[in-house]
Amino acid sequence: MTNPFPSVRTVGVFDSGVGGLSVLKAIREKHPTIDFIYIADSGNAPYGSRSAEFIESRASHIADSLIDAGAEIIVVACNTATAIAVAKLRAKLTVPIVAMEPAIKPAVAHTKTGVIGVLATERTIESPTVARLCRDFGQGVNILLQPCPGFVELVERGELSSDYTHEYLRKTVSPLIAQGADTLVLGCTHYVFLEPAIQHIAGPGVHIIESSAAVARQTMRYLGIEKHIDLSEHAGRELFLTTGSPEDAQTIFSQLWGSPVEVLALDNINASSSATG
Ligand code: DGL
Repeated sequence: MTNPFPSVRTVGVFDSGVGGLSVLKAIREKHPTIDFIYIADSGNAPYGSRSAEFIESRASHIADSLIDAGAEIIVVACNTATAIAVAKLRAKLTVPIVAMEPAIKPAVAHTKTGVIGVLATERTIESPTVARLCRDFGQGVNILLQPCPGFVELVERGELSSDYTHEYLRKTVSPLIAQGADTLVLGCTHYVFLEPAIQHIAGPGVHIIESSAAVARQTMRYLGIEKHIDLSEHAGRELFLTTGSPEDAQTIFSQLWGSPVEVLALDNINASSSATG
């Protein structure tokens, strides 16, 4: 695979599926001229109930593909892949890696009731990363760690606000509110697309925190271009790739991105002609 965006700054972003588009949108908002390559490992989603070995091996393969395609920085737009695989990725790769973790620290700072809920995948909830965050920042706060099987699949299907989705989410979210949680952490990038439904269920008094804006700021810091955005440069492009079916991906990517996009198969990428935008 050759660099589809020669001689411009290119950021590679990946997730198990479409959830990382929430992070990509936050970075794009901050930077209109950078080029992105996004890989959704939808052929292997969800990661959240897979073994650590499987997630490590997928993260390594996808990161290599991004670097082959010309990515100079990699954003791991997936809490699960970060929790399980980022240490090994950092040990193996020389490019900077921006990663993410559930926003437990800001949630602890925000709560008034002293109860927070953390919504994340099974694998993230039981990870040493979450144990460390609870230990380091959770003193005196009741942290309700809530695995959410099925949430990722709802987003992958684009079912963000159906009656079924509301009922499904309610079973998981309502008990947290009943236990006094006034702050919820969305510890999975897919769940950002469910935020309006989760807010509706939790009620207006509950504060929801997610990490995409913080990851966008961190990415800009790595790029060292916070203050030097040259708007005379070409408009940034996005190359969307999937390990799943590109035909299926087209609809859900366009829905979540907010405008029609072309999605290509990762194995089939056709260099620079494949960029959209
Ligand atoms: N978006 C991924 C995350 O942030 C979802 C993981 C999954 O595929 O289960 O954790």
